[in-house]
Amino acid sequence: MRIAVLASGNGSNFEAIAQAFEKQTIAGELVLVFSDKKTAYVLERAEKHQIPAFTFSPKDFLSKKEYEEALLDLLVDHQVDYLVLAGYMRLIGEGLLEAFPKRIINIHPSLLPAFPGLHGIEDAFDYGVKVTGVTVHYIDAGVDTGPIIAQECVPISATDTLESLTEKIHQTEHRLYPEVLAEIIHAEE
Ligand code: GAR
Repeated sequence: MRIAVLASGNGSNFEAIAQAFEKQTIAGELVLVFSDKKTAYVLERAEKHQIPAFTFSPKDFLSKKEYEEALLDLLVDHQVDYLVLAGYMRLIGEGLLEAFPKRIINIHPSLLPAFPGLHGIEDAFDYGVKVTGVTVHYIDAGVDTGPIIAQECVPISATDTLESLTEKIHQTEHRLYPEVLAEIIHAEE
């Protein structure tokens, strides 16, 4: 299986995934990283791990459709089988969904369907829930919808701050995402 990671920012989940490929706990090959943000730190992380990295922005194109066609060309050129979203903060369009049916996976920092969107950790913290968590799911056309693959709870204690909760969520993500990807890809091999 040839896997591509799509990310928009820091790339700490990419880092955990890249380490799992290096330790061969995930089968297959991590063939490229793509970021829609040219200054995203994930691109530096990719260089450190010697994973080919590519970046262009929807702003470089006349429409979202053209942007996604360019992205699809890149993925097809590299014979990518699976897309792994790791903090890729855009909706996936129809063209990519059709090209990778049930082969686009996302991680979200809440127990979906609660707190979808761009600020899952903060929204759960502000709401005052006592338990939040992490969800790994297949992507469909909605915002953080699509069939759920795995979830893990993260309790919020009275002493937690947004910072400490964020740290706990990220630690959970960095363990859970590589584990779940390993299982999915192993089942496909
Ligand atoms: C992660 O917490 C991920 O769950 C979240 O973005 C963060 C990216 O961190 N994704 C979403 O909120 C998707 N709706 P990272 O760049 O350090 O991996």
